[in-house]
Amino acid sequence: MSHFRTCQLTAFAMLTCHWQVASATVPASGSASPCWQSLWIWLGAAMLALVIITTVYLWHVRTLKKQKQDLEAEIKLRAMEVSAQREELEKVNLALLKVNKRQEAQQSELTRFLAVASHDLRQPMHALNLYLGALTNFELPAAMRPVVNNLRHCARTMDDMFANLLDLSRLDAQIVEPQLKEFAIAEVLGKLDVEFTPQALAKGLQFQIHHSLAIVNSDADLVEQILRNLIANAIRYTPTGHIVVNCLEFDQQLQIAVEDTGIGISTHDQETIFEEFFQVERKQESRRSTMGMGLGLAIVQRLVRLLNIPIKLQSQPDHGSTFAIGLPLAASQEMTDKHGRSKASNSASLLQALIVVIDDDENILMAMRGLLERWDARVITATSGAGALALCSEEIKIPDLLICDYRLKLNENGIDVINNFREEFNHLISAILITGDISPQLSDDAKAAGLILMHKPIQAENLHGTLTQLLNEAKQ
Ligand SMILES: Nc1ncnc2c1ncn2[C@@H]1O[C@H](COP(=O)(O)OP(=O)(O)OP(=O)(O)O)[C@@H](O)[C@H]1O
Ligand SMILES: [Mg+2]
Repeated sequence: MSHFRTCQLTAFAMLTCHWQVASATVPASGSASPCWQSLWIWLGAAMLALVIITTVYLWHVRTLKKQKQDLEAEIKLRAMEVSAQREELEKVNLALLKVNKRQEAQQSELTRFLAVASHDLRQPMHALNLYLGALTNFELPAAMRPVVNNLRHCARTMDDMFANLLDLSRLDAQIVEPQLKEFAIAEVLGKLDVEFTPQALAKGLQFQIHHSLAIVNSDADLVEQILRNLIANAIRYTPTGHIVVNCLEFDQQLQIAVEDTGIGISTHDQETIFEEFFQVERKQESRRSTMGMGLGLAIVQRLVRLLNIPIKLQSQPDHGSTFAIGLPLAASQEMTDKHGRSKASNSASLLQALIVVIDDDENILMAMRGLLERWDARVITATSGAGALALCSEEIKIPDLLICDYRLKLNENGIDVINNFREEFNHLISAILITGDISPQLSDDAKAAGLILMHKPIQAENLHGTLTQLLNEAKQ
């Protein structure tokens, strides 16, 4: 358009110029040129201007058309490039999707494998622990004591590894569902005190738990598992000094801190210690000597996420470490005394409790009998539900507790056996279902049937704790 405007201005300038020339050339004498001459000049100039304007205009239009065509060609080219890139991206996306699907399939395959394998692996481990637990209660020749102790130590280590692997696979398979309820933290700390004091003392460490009467709202078992991992680490990574567990109430939270005077963790390693299978490399200490697998803190991290609670770490190499978690305090702390006292006053005892154990593995039955009788329980063992019922019919007493393996011979399953017992005696007998199967379906079924589910291999202490708890609950 600017060209067009320039042409108009040029034509106007020419006309104006001609007017000026024409006016300037009028003779003073008054012999004026004929008026037609002037008219023709005017007309000629106008025509010339018109032709110039039209030519310029047409040239301008042609240029614009050309530009438009060039632009359209450019756009087409770009569009083709974009669509080619999009196709490429779609191909990459598809490939990624396939890889993802393959990984998911492998993951579920792995979870299934662990579920299946853990049952078979746990069976002998379970029997071994029970045997060893029973063995220590016998009078043994002095020379055999260290051998048995070493055996127990090895079995314990293997057991810990199995338990860690299983815990991790259960957390990853999202089988674990937190059961939030109010409980006295003293219950959990009391158990940990009993469990870890001998270990710390055996290593020459001071171990102290500053108890608290606080009531918190969380899942007692999962909190216990978190603290167990943190205290076990504190003991393992502290060559000399002490381990202290402190409780501090603030900001609607109970902060529980596990402090040690151990080897500490560098700032760099603090970023990775929560990853699975990660262990800090140490020159003076080989991986083997720690006997761990680097799973404890990975489990802790999954558990704190599951419970939605914070975890903090403060540590410096050679200056010890403090791991702290924060639990929500219960709205009312009124129950503290009642709750804490009633739990504290319950002295754990299996005295004279009639316990029925059903397992199709004779070895396990023998080991269980040995262990339970050491705890002064009366024991009936059987390899099938029908056999157990027949033996119980000779008793005048209703069994206090059933311990039943899930998978029995002849396709019998533990849940059905327990239900039969309860129907037969018309009484909701407390029962523990023992299994190596970690499938979520079984957890749900056990929960629906009101059973305590324990996974193999079972530690004697844990079994004792659960039995005591169930028997005490039944008494109330
Ligand atoms: N209290 C601590 N003091 C010093 N280092 C620690 C402490 N806790 C953990 N670590 C470091 O973090 C690493 C990972 O700990 P984690 O509990 O996950 O595994 P682990 O104790 O080696 O084995 P596992 O717990 O499976 O038996 C440990 O190997 C250790 O190097
Ligand atoms: Mg550990």
